[in-house]
Amino acid sequence: MINLSHIYKTYTGPVHALKNVDLKIDKGEFVFLTGPSGAGKTTLFKMLSAYDRASSGSIDVAGYNLMGITPKDIPHFRRRIGVIYQDFKLLKDRTIFENVAMPLIVRGDRPQQIQRRVSEVLENVGLFSKAQQLPDFISGGEQQRTAIARALVHQPGLLIADEPTGNLDPELSEDIMDLLDRVCAQGTTVFVATHDHDMVKRRKRRTLQIKDGQIVGDLR
Ligand SMILES: Nc1ncnc2c1ncn2[C@@H]1O[C@H](COP(=O)(O)OP(=O)(O)OP(=O)(O)O)[C@@H](O)[C@H]1O
Ligand SMILES: [Mg+2]
Repeated sequence: MINLSHIYKTYTGPVHALKNVDLKIDKGEFVFLTGPSGAGKTTLFKMLSAYDRASSGSIDVAGYNLMGITPKDIPHFRRRIGVIYQDFKLLKDRTIFENVAMPLIVRGDRPQQIQRRVSEVLENVGLFSKAQQLPDFISGGEQQRTAIARALVHQPGLLIADEPTGNLDPELSEDIMDLLDRVCAQGTTVFVATHDHDMVKRRKRRTLQIKDGQIVGDLR
């Protein structure tokens, strides 16, 4: 599902954010990415989602060669993946329902289909009763679950989540991780960046460690 080889990412400065990263994640795996602030987690996720391009190396994700991808193909690629950003990126002037529906609207699903699928996903994340609220009027945990619902609504084969429990209390964090576990059990490959070492220990999943832009550990 994910295959990176000799990936480097250098920002102007220069900042060497990723240095010779090799990484392979199979279909259906659940993998954590841990590492200190500034280690390169978000940078790696930006490369994986074609949000930005690596400086050199090769990246294949969900059957797409992201180093050679054309702008025309990026929307097609994005339909294969779901992304949860560190800062949610919800549209503040749209309701929870509209935020979650966005990927389906963009790909041109029929209103009836959208209604059915969005309702189903909101039910799954426990937000059905908040569907008509605006993001500023729900809690942080609810905003996070909205972002998860939006990332899952088009049933992607790969879900990448950057600190999905970053701002949540421990109990809510466990709920979110249980939800991601279920998503994985249903066949989606899940890749999660997190600072929460205790949770990673409890979950006993494959864990990649990144430090100063390099993968320094791969525990299974
Ligand atoms: N657009 C940018 N331009 C220049 N440097 C950047 C840019 N984005 C990130 N960096 C730098 O690249 C390095 C990796 O940043 P990144 O955001 O990937 O870290 P992170 O592991 O996600 O950290 P955190 O846990 O705080 O979210 C840092 O030194 C950061 O300052
Ligand atoms: Mg980050």
